[in-house]
Amino acid sequence: MTQTEDITATGAAGTEAIRLQLRSWPEVEAYLERCRGVIVPLGSTEQHGPSGAIGTDALTAEAVALEVGRRTGVLVTPTQAFGMAEHHLGFAGTVSLQPSTLMAVLHDVVLSLARHGFERIYVINGHGGNIATGKAAFAQAYTTASARGLAVAPRLRCKLANWFMAPPVMQKARELYGDREGHHATPSEIALTLHLEPSLIDKQRPLPEPPPAGPIHGPEDFRRRHPDGRMGSDPYLASAEHGHTFLELAASALAADLQAFLTAAD
Ligand code: NI
Repeated sequence: MTQTEDITATGAAGTEAIRLQLRSWPEVEAYLERCRGVIVPLGSTEQHGPSGAIGTDALTAEAVALEVGRRTGVLVTPTQAFGMAEHHLGFAGTVSLQPSTLMAVLHDVVLSLARHGFERIYVINGHGGNIATGKAAFAQAYTTASARGLAVAPRLRCKLANWFMAPPVMQKARELYGDREGHHATPSEIALTLHLEPSLIDKQRPLPEPPPAGPIHGPEDFRRRHPDGRMGSDPYLASAEHGHTFLELAASALAADLQAFLTAAD
């Protein structure tokens, strides 16, 4: 494949059609003939305050990824639901990968995909704690792809897309919640989970004033500063209707970003 050939998918598709888990290997081979892009949802399994779901970051990343895949026709891998959540380990239910473990996982995911000919790896991320490690994993993956002499190495590009940092999402969160958006267990992410999983609405209740966001160190320190797990946020402001809006905004912003990523010559 040359630089001038189109590596984009053909457009909107059903959710089943874009789930890698539901494709056979000949179908993936055929897909690679027309598209070299793939979406990898990346979440975390960690506390989200006293009323938020442990799976918030994985649920949201997966939903945004599937919607972006549906709109663009780009394949979506299974969700990597464990992320780097060391600082949340002071709260029951949190399951964390050490940074070095997550780095190894993402590195191996990218190398597996690159071996088959995927050239554009678009990671849709739902957790701020994954960002530094994700970027480090990409740097390592480029080096390994080149060292292994993979055919796609010169054209391999990885991108981390944080749905919650998409400008239209941040603008809407500011508009709806102002300072009450906070930095962890935010009403915007909780709203999206309420839209996806209506049973979670039963957990919603008014909460006391949260401590402001501060520095993040180890798990004990985090719990001392943020006793109920929230960092300056008021998730009680969230609604399922808001969540639907956030899904639309995130999917449309990231679908456009993905198309640009797939068509970029370099
Ligand atoms: Ni979160």
